[in-house]
Amino acid sequence: MQYLFLSGSLRKESLNTQLLQLAAKHTGSPLSAIVDLNQYNIPLYSGDIEAVGIPDGVQKLSQKIEQAQAIIIASPEYNYSISGVLKNTIDWVSRVRPMPFRKKPILLLAASMGPIAGIRGLWQTRIPLEGLGNYVYPDMFSLGVAHEALNEEGFTNPDDQKRFATTLDGFSEFAKRFS
Ligand SMILES: Cc1cc2nc3c(=O)[nH]c(=O)nc-3n(C[C@H](O)[C@H](O)[C@H](O)COP(=O)(O)O)c2cc1C
Repeated sequence: MQYLFLSGSLRKESLNTQLLQLAAKHTGSPLSAIVDLNQYNIPLYSGDIEAVGIPDGVQKLSQKIEQAQAIIIASPEYNYSISGVLKNTIDWVSRVRPMPFRKKPILLLAASMGPIAGIRGLWQTRIPLEGLGNYVYPDMFSLGVAHEALNEEGFTNPDDQKRFATTLDGFSEFAKRFS
C-alpha cells in the first residue's frame, strides 16, 4: 500500500507532523512519504493566479496525491475548525484535472494542545474531502494535550498507542478495498 502523509501544520515542531511520523513507522512507509508543505510554495488561492496557470507546487503535490493509494492527514484544529493551510491546499488541488482528491481512501488524525483533541476540526475537514468524492474512513484519531501525550519515542500512554494502532490497522484494511 503506497501511503501519502499530509500535515495541516507548517510548524517545524508540529505535533501533527509528529503523529504522521508515527503513522509512517506503523505502516512501514518511508519518512519521505510525508509531505512538507513548506517546500511547495502554494500561494493563497486566487482565481487570478489560476488564470495564469496552476502553480508548480500545486501540480507537484497533485501528482503525489494521484500516485498514492491511501492518504493519511493529520491536522490541527484552528478556532474549532479546519486548518486554513489545509483548506487552501485542498482548494488548489481541487482545481487540477483530473481531480487528484477523488475516490481516495483518507484517514484523518489530529493532535491538539487542548483537551478536546481537535475532533471538531476533523469533522470540518471531512466536509471538503467528502464533497470531492473521497472515501473518508469513518473512524478518526484525535489526541488531546498532545504536547504531553507525545515524546520523542512516541506515545506516553500505552492506551493512546493501542487506539492509534487499531485505527491505522482498520484504515489499512479499509483502504485495501479500493486498490
Ligand atoms: C490560530 C490558532 C487557533 C487554535 N485553535 C484551537 C482550537 O480551536 N482547538 C484546539 O484544540 N487547539 C487550538 N489551537 C492550538 C493547537 O492545538 C496547537 O497550536 C497545536 O499544537 C497546533 O498543531 P501543530 O503542533 O501540529 O502545529 C489553536 C492554535 C492556533 C495557532
